[in-house]
Amino acid sequence: MAVLSLERVPAPAKLNLFLHIVGRRSDGYHLLQSVFTFVDLCDYLDFQRRDDGVITRAGQSLAGLTEDDDLIIQAARLLQRATGTHFGATIACDKRIPAGAGLGGGSSNAATTLIALNRLWQTGLSRTQLMQLGVQLGADVPVFIFGQSAFAQGIGEQLQAITLPNLSYLLIKPDVFVSTPAIFQDQGLTRDSKPVIITDFTDSLISIDPQKNHSVLFFGENVLETVACKQAPKIKILLQGLRKNDLHARMTGSGSCVFVGFKDKEQATRQNSYLSGIILHGQPTMQMPSDRWVVNGLNTHP
Ligand code: C5P
Repeated sequence: MAVLSLERVPAPAKLNLFLHIVGRRSDGYHLLQSVFTFVDLCDYLDFQRRDDGVITRAGQSLAGLTEDDDLIIQAARLLQRATGTHFGATIACDKRIPAGAGLGGGSSNAATTLIALNRLWQTGLSRTQLMQLGVQLGADVPVFIFGQSAFAQGIGEQLQAITLPNLSYLLIKPDVFVSTPAIFQDQGLTRDSKPVIITDFTDSLISIDPQKNHSVLFFGENVLETVACKQAPKIKILLQGLRKNDLHARMTGSGSCVFVGFKDKEQATRQNSYLSGIILHGQPTMQMPSDRWVVNGLNTHP
């Protein structure tokens, strides 16, 4: 029986556990190496199939965003064009992931839209085909379709699954918006990190440091941090403060959010008692609460 609507489909946030830049493509995009993982901070999307081909948003749109800039609308239009379906959709988004935070909210929304509409419209694209469409919308979109913690290369679209322990994260968002293009275009950006292979870091990706309040030391660094701290000094103040308090802190993506990893929730909660962050839990795979979540179903999807 045809499914006519999908409700409360989660679009999780991501963290970059490290992020190195190893080169640049001729189109200006950077070649990076990173580990992506997901956390239980999610936007929730509702999809209603339409027979008239119209794609539109219901409820609140993102402040200051026109439909043409909206990644949800763009993703739906892209899938519609690519498959030639005559269906449309009305899509609502309950937004909880802050923008300009390095958490991938827009990319995650786009990925969820591709996955959900592929099901609702019965367009039958494979996960790989959806990832190929996704990268046209943004370099971070494919990993959200991939649906597992991953080592990413290329511009972020070449993905290898990795296994992570269940970690808790203390996430703090400084009161500042960071523009991803401005960070990547900065002259001061380190673009020549030494390339690593997956076996170089798998044993050392995570080490627990009892000297540093049991916070997790992650492999490598986020090379975007230096530039983000220069452009937005509030990030620098936050990172320095956390490090002075004996915590391993790292920025995610192009910022502005900063996180500290812990092996157990109690440690994260204890540290947060004097910090104004939120506690998140790692979701190494996007195990979502009901069968309405279709990432897992994609393996067997036509
Ligand atoms: O792909 P996305 O739209 O998310 O990227 C936003 C901007 O970040 C791009 O316009 C580009 O300037 C920069 N970027 C980059 N290399 C990457 C990812 C993003 O230069 N691998």
